[in-house]
Amino acid sequence: MSENVNHKNIQWFPGHMARTLRVMEQEVRHVDVVLILLDARIPRSSLNPEIERITAGKPHLYLLNKADLADPDATAQWVRYFTRNGDACLAVNSKKRSGGVPVRKAIDEELAGLLARRAGKGMSGARIRVMLAGIPNVGKSTFINSFAGSARAKAEDRPGVTRGKQWVAVDGYDLLDMPGVLWKKFDSLETASNLAFIGSIKDDILDVESLAMSLADEMRRMHPDRLAERYKLSAEDLELEPYELLEQIGRRRGMLMSGGVVDTERAARVLVDEFRAAKMGRITLERP
Ligand code: G4P
Repeated sequence: MSENVNHKNIQWFPGHMARTLRVMEQEVRHVDVVLILLDARIPRSSLNPEIERITAGKPHLYLLNKADLADPDATAQWVRYFTRNGDACLAVNSKKRSGGVPVRKAIDEELAGLLARRAGKGMSGARIRVMLAGIPNVGKSTFINSFAGSARAKAEDRPGVTRGKQWVAVDGYDLLDMPGVLWKKFDSLETASNLAFIGSIKDDILDVESLAMSLADEMRRMHPDRLAERYKLSAEDLELEPYELLEQIGRRRGMLMSGGVVDTERAARVLVDEFRAAKMGRITLERP
């Protein structure tokens, strides 16, 4: 992976994320189960070590959200990976209504012991308290809507927007939605880049051209055919230096400014947006 995404620039930890982690540490004691939402395109990079630490002692299950944007084979591999490690894991597309049905079933299975004990005490009607945790923009609000089968939670379209915790009652479940959290220091440049590619790090603290250069580099390494097809690039184009490659992408799309100079900023934005919208196909950036 190239060094275009500046590692130092995205070692950040806004105050509200630190506060969210403290609130999570308190609230986790009062819930029955935690749903850890991961992005199916980067399951490893979206696994927040802080969330892992906080939820370690609680029943939890992993949801590979946005599975509709990820490579289905890779998603199946990831589900097997988590399941083999003894954790429940499901692939989810929260944009789909009724995506919540299998998740309810998985929660009930995860809590089978607890539910049986409650039933024994004549408390089978007690509500199940579920905490939702994940990185910014992973799709928590959207997931709640799909779980509820109606539009109850408002989806916020930008990552890192301050939002307090909120309880949402859905049938027999009380869902606790927490704001998305990143962690203090990314352990690798790859993690940082992956989070930036999918849009979990606010774009306004990143240099979009650097981000796009890294993404183009990653795409030509993993899927040169798809990159070439989308932007009509030749085999020689794919060998260009990252900035020249970005210029070529802009040129192929006719993004020229006065004097025939390529508008690389616009090209960068298009490349990043199209990747996020899976216009180059369903791509998973990491394997178990
Ligand atoms: P958050 O609460 O965790 O911050 O995330 P939120 O639900 O606001 O979702 C962030 C973006 O991800 C939204 O897109 C949302 O539609 C999208 N999203 C969530 N789950 C899925 C999924 O399973 N599949 C796909 N394809 N997208 C998903 P947006 O572009 O910001 O908003 P919108 O135009 O889609 O409403």
